Amino acid sequence: MKICISFTSSTLILAFLITIQAVKSQDLIHSTCQTSSKTDPNINYNFCTSSLQAAPASRCAALSGLGMISIRLVRYNVTDTRCYIKQLLKTKRWDPYVRQCLNDCFDLYSDAIPTVKLAMRYYNSKRFDDANIQISSIMDAATTCEDGFGEKEGVVSPLTKRNKDTFQLSAVALSVMRIIQAGSSA
Ligand SMILES: *[C@@H]1O[C@H](CO)[C@@H](O)[C@H](O)[C@H]1NC(C)=O
Repeated sequence: MKICISFTSSTLILAFLITIQAVKSQDLIHSTCQTSSKTDPNINYNFCTSSLQAAPASRCAALSGLGMISIRLVRYNVTDTRCYIKQLLKTKRWDPYVRQCLNDCFDLYSDAIPTVKLAMRYYNSKRFDDANIQISSIMDAATTCEDGFGEKEGVVSPLTKRNKDTFQLSAVALSVMRIIQAGSSA
């Protein structure tokens, strides 16, 4: 009977601790996204929380883990978008201007893949300024891709959402790095 009780109570304590840890990490995502959306007008709070929460293991992550997770999200986005553009080019007939834009975007996103990998390496060795430069260049790539379509009247970009996602995820990654840097220098 006694064993039974102590088993039950230790199970309860364990469940309690797990819950506390989960709540703490939830809080970390929320507080990180709150800070990020307040300090960077490019970051939407809901986009930030839903992106980070959807990532595997994010609920248990510390701040440094969230930084890596956000860069990884950029990587998935960039990789998937490159593949998507390739398919668009293959499977549809495009007006020559749009085709040229898509080709440019394909090159931009192709270059972004080694760039984001480099950013991960820098991040892992805590070279945040170097990682920042790489991530910023991915934001530039997304902007350049989107702007291309806008330069001719009547042309609608088929990549607006993807460019926006890549841009905003990158902004989240930069913001998390800023929070880490601010914390370590304090
Ligand atoms: C890019 O990331 C956003 C935010 O996490 C997500 O909603 C979207 O589905 C991703 N897009 C692709 C193509 O992976």
